[in-house]
Amino acid sequence: MKTKLTALDRAHPAASAVAEAAALLQEGELVAFPTETVYGLGADALDPLAAKKIYAAKGRPSDNPLIVHIANTDALAVLAREVPASAYALAKRFWPGPLTMILKKSAAVPLETTGGLDTVALRMPSDLIARALLETSGIYIAAPSANASGRPSPTRAEHVLEDLNGKIPLILDGGPVEIGLESTIVDLTGETPLILRPGFVTLAMLREVLPEAAYDPAVLAREQKQNLVAKAPGMKYRHYAPKGKLRIFEGNLEDVVQRVRQEAFAKQREGFCVAVLASEETKDRYSEFSVRSVGERSKEETIAANLFHTLREFDHLGADYIFGECFYQEGLGEAIMNRLLKAAGYQVEPAVPSERKS
Ligand code: TXA
Ligand code: MG
Repeated sequence: MKTKLTALDRAHPAASAVAEAAALLQEGELVAFPTETVYGLGADALDPLAAKKIYAAKGRPSDNPLIVHIANTDALAVLAREVPASAYALAKRFWPGPLTMILKKSAAVPLETTGGLDTVALRMPSDLIARALLETSGIYIAAPSANASGRPSPTRAEHVLEDLNGKIPLILDGGPVEIGLESTIVDLTGETPLILRPGFVTLAMLREVLPEAAYDPAVLAREQKQNLVAKAPGMKYRHYAPKGKLRIFEGNLEDVVQRVRQEAFAKQREGFCVAVLASEETKDRYSEFSVRSVGERSKEETIAANLFHTLREFDHLGADYIFGECFYQEGLGEAIMNRLLKAAGYQVEPAVPSERKS
């Protein structure tokens, strides 16, 4: 299959290009499109065969459910049952935007879309191309991130092409996305609203609407524990990992810089291709190595926006070893470190080994 790439103006998407994409969705085909978080790989959420095509194109395990994208809150009553008041309260505050809610699914949603679960993930995106596609097609669009399973989520159309070229008919290219990390997922099916995946909408923001909201324990784990089975099935899979071995160091920033330099020198001497994941504030300290700045520590949104692109760049460099810095883990930093920890296979070490707690 030949994959067509159509460039669109994010603020004013051309109606003809959107209509072409909408027609493909109506025929049960796949279309990749930008959202404000990451690019999605869309298909008709109510068509089991279309949903199956998503799993095939991504190489995604079939027990990993898809997020259904909707154009308006009327869809809640169609796709979910026993919708709690908390869902409407969150929708009012955060939709359209980077928040996904888990609700009990209605009979309309096929099990192929929900990975066999009795619940459904719903999100109303704010990106104007995504909204135009939803409105023009009149379809509820099931869309996971448009990467090959296991790779970093795509934040640019080039990333989608890198992973899915020849596997899908169309990619709508709206340029780099705004946020760069996937949506916050909140489970509203239990007694307490639980964050299953941290994102741009932070716990503090959710608590302004639902004071009882909390993190699911699996989110906060510093390692993948057997007893903390992730409630979002996707979170249990290996994710985002670059091909090289990524190790990250935490502690006082000066200690971190020293340790990263020391480790990088050691591997470089052994003849390996070594790269460093740094920040704007520290990148000049690693001039002997292939260094990539992920963004400004003082502006966390720049780190969120660049993280997945930077992880992909390490593969382009052919890095055997990547040494990186940790970031502050609060607010948006919680989502940044959640993705970085997964990318590193939970390999975080104290910069000064004696600080190690047993
Ligand atoms: O920002 C986003 O959410 C992007 C854009 C395209 O909207 N989508 C995205 O989809 O990140 P995906 O498939 O890469 O991640 C969806 C996550 C997975 O971890 C999946 O297991 C979880 O949501 N999920 C989906 N339905 C669920 C359900 N019914 N219960 C629990 N977790 C669910
Ligand atoms: Mg994904």
